[in-house]
Amino acid sequence: MSRIAYVNGRYAPHCEAAVHVEDRGYQFSDGVYEVIMVRAGRMVDGNGHLERLGRSLEAVKIDWPMNRRSLEVVIGEVVRRNRLRDGFIYLQVTRGVVRRDHQFPDNIQPSLVMTARRCAVLADSLDDLGVGVITIPDTRWKRCDIKSISLLSNVLSKQEAREAGAYEAWLVDEEGYVTEGASSNAWIVTGAGGLVTRPVGRALLGGVTRQTVLELARGEGVALCERPFTVEEARVAAEAFLTSTTSFIKPVVSIDGVKVGAGRPGPVCASLTALYAAYVKAQGGGE
Ligand code: PDD
Repeated sequence: MSRIAYVNGRYAPHCEAAVHVEDRGYQFSDGVYEVIMVRAGRMVDGNGHLERLGRSLEAVKIDWPMNRRSLEVVIGEVVRRNRLRDGFIYLQVTRGVVRRDHQFPDNIQPSLVMTARRCAVLADSLDDLGVGVITIPDTRWKRCDIKSISLLSNVLSKQEAREAGAYEAWLVDEEGYVTEGASSNAWIVTGAGGLVTRPVGRALLGGVTRQTVLELARGEGVALCERPFTVEEARVAAEAFLTSTTSFIKPVVSIDGVKVGAGRPGPVCASLTALYAAYVKAQGGGE
């Protein structure tokens, strides 16, 4: 089945969908995006994603391409036209099309692009063997809280991870603290079973999955501490894991080739995965 993309008011076959060469997203990475999980045809954490989209747009002074209600209608239509049951919606808003010039005019119509991807969205259990991460310096700009499409540093970091045989790169600030992964948030579990993850701020993206996992853990009475942690602390943690819309909760079983804990997924990660899977199912209508 050909996939349908949405581009500036039109639904087009994926292979024909295109934007103008002078779209500022293409010329300057002048735009923001969201990746939203769809389960049983419904958005998971839709509010969290659209609220973050609003914060990103405001931070970079791009107007909403349409009001939020209309945007939700377009998302629903992309889901419907692609017969998307389980998968992801990619949504990108750029400043729009205008002759190339760094500064931008006042009344420019933002561009909106949406695509859909089918994919199983849930790992019900931790059959997952866990993944390895490498640690590398965080070379990104100072507004990583904005979900900007300008991802060159993230792309290069992720590629470095792949070339090292790892799943993710954990980015490290100048003081030796982990900010987050190249496309995910980073967590450790202390010997006492408490969760540690860096507090949100300009150094990292406030992940929607991160927020949901925090709330689920809080509801279970798990000890939580939002504070930065160092690479050394992560290496000797009882467990480590990462979270993102597309990775869900992934146990991290090695850091720079050194085993974390027993070198396999641990019990805290397993119970959070089960909680998160139940949450996603419930959001998708309990199917
Ligand atoms: N990335 N940090 C970074 C740098 C990210 O790019 C992402 C998500 C996250 C996790 O955010 P969330 O839980 O809201 O997905 C953290 C998406 C999935 C991507 O770029 O494909």
